[in-house]
Amino acid sequence: MIDLDHIRAETPATERRAYLHNAGAALTPAPIVAAMKDYLDLEAEIGGYAAAAREAARLDGVYHSVARLLNAAADEIALVENATVAWQMAFYGLAETFKPGDRILTAEAEYGANYVAFLQIAKRKGVVIDVVPSDASGALDITALEQMIDGRVKLIAVTWVPTNGGLANPAAAIGRIAKAHNIPYLLDACQAVGQMPVDVAALGCDMLSATGRKFLRGSRGSGFLYVRREFMARFEPPMLDHFAADWVAHDRYELRPDARRFENWENNYAARLGLGLAIDYALEIGLGNIEKRCRLLSTRLRDGLRAIPHVTVRDLGPNPSAIVSFTHDKIAATDIVKAAAEKNVIIGASDPASTRIDAERRQLPMLVRASPHYYNTEAEVDRLMELVASAR
Ligand SMILES: Cc1ncc(COP(=O)(O)O)c(C=O)c1O
Repeated sequence: MIDLDHIRAETPATERRAYLHNAGAALTPAPIVAAMKDYLDLEAEIGGYAAAAREAARLDGVYHSVARLLNAAADEIALVENATVAWQMAFYGLAETFKPGDRILTAEAEYGANYVAFLQIAKRKGVVIDVVPSDASGALDITALEQMIDGRVKLIAVTWVPTNGGLANPAAAIGRIAKAHNIPYLLDACQAVGQMPVDVAALGCDMLSATGRKFLRGSRGSGFLYVRREFMARFEPPMLDHFAADWVAHDRYELRPDARRFENWENNYAARLGLGLAIDYALEIGLGNIEKRCRLLSTRLRDGLRAIPHVTVRDLGPNPSAIVSFTHDKIAATDIVKAAAEKNVIIGASDPASTRIDAERRQLPMLVRASPHYYNTEAEVDRLMELVASAR
C-alpha cells in the first residue's frame, strides 16, 4: 500500500500543481532535496575533497542502491551524468569492435540520441542499421527479430519504454533471443526505471542505461550504466582517464576491474547522493506498488481521453506504461501544454524528431505527453482530462 498522504506531504509542490511530467523530470522528494542541499553546504564548509572523504561510505552506498534496484552487483555499476552518456560509453566502446558489414538491430521507437549515434558509427565503420518491424500491437516483433538474426548481427540495441508514448517493448523476450545467439544486448531503460521493476537477470541484457531525474525522482545530472561482469572483458570504454584505468608505467595502463572504468575522475557528488536516496525511496515504496499505481492512473487518463471528441490516444503496445501520448485534431500539442501550464497542470510534448522512425511510419505530429506517477491523484488526472475536453 502506498501512503499517498505522506508521500504528497514530502512532495510539497503537489499542493500547488498537478505535476504530470514525470517522463521529463519528476518532482524530487523534499527529504532528498534537503540531503543534497546539506551535502552542498558541507562542501562549502570544509571543501569538496574533505566532504567526499567524510561521506565516502554514503557515496559508495549509491552503487549498492543502483545494484539493488537492478538486481545486479555494485561492481557492475558506473555512475555518470545522464542516460545518454551511460548509453554512449557502452555503445561507442562496443562499436570499436565493429567491422564493415556488421549489423545493428534496433526497434522502430528507438530514441533519437541513440539513432544518431548508430548513424555516426554506420558512417565511420560501414555497419548497417536494421530496424526490426513492429507487430500488430506496435511493439517490437519478436518473430521478426529472430528471423533477422545472422552471423553479422553484432548488437541488439533497443529502447524499452520509448520517449514518445506508453509502449513497453518486450525487453525480456529480446534478451532471450540475444542470449540464444550470443549477441550483445544494450537496453535503454531510461523511461522504465522508477516506474516498474527492472531486473537485469530476468531481462537478459548485457548493458543497461538509465537516468536519475525521470521516474526515479532523482536530481538532474545523474545517470548510470550497468554492464554485466562477464561482458566487461569483451570491450574497452571508448575514452579513458587515470580513474578509469591505472597509469601503471609510462607506456602502459591497466583498466579498473569494475564498471567504474566507464566513469572519469570528477563528479557531482550531491547529485549522486540524490540518485542513491531516490532509489532507496522507490525501493522502500516497492517498484511493484509503484507500477500498479502508475498503470491505474495512466489507464484512467487514456480511457478518459479516448472519450473526448477530437482526441486520439497514440500509445502502442498491449500493456502500456505511464507515458500517455495523444493529439487533438484542432489544437496543436504545444498549445495544449501551454494552456495546461496556465492552469497549473504540468505536462510536456514529444517532438517527432526524438523518435523519427516511429513518427514517420505513423505520420505523427508533435504529441502531447502526460506522464503520471504514483504520487499523483485521480483528481489530478481528471483535471487534465477536463482541461483537454474544454480546450478550444
Ligand atoms: C528513451 C530515452 N532514452 C534516453 C534518454 C536520454 O536521457 P538523458 O537526458 O538523461 O541523457 C531519454 C530522455 O528523454 C529517453 O526518453
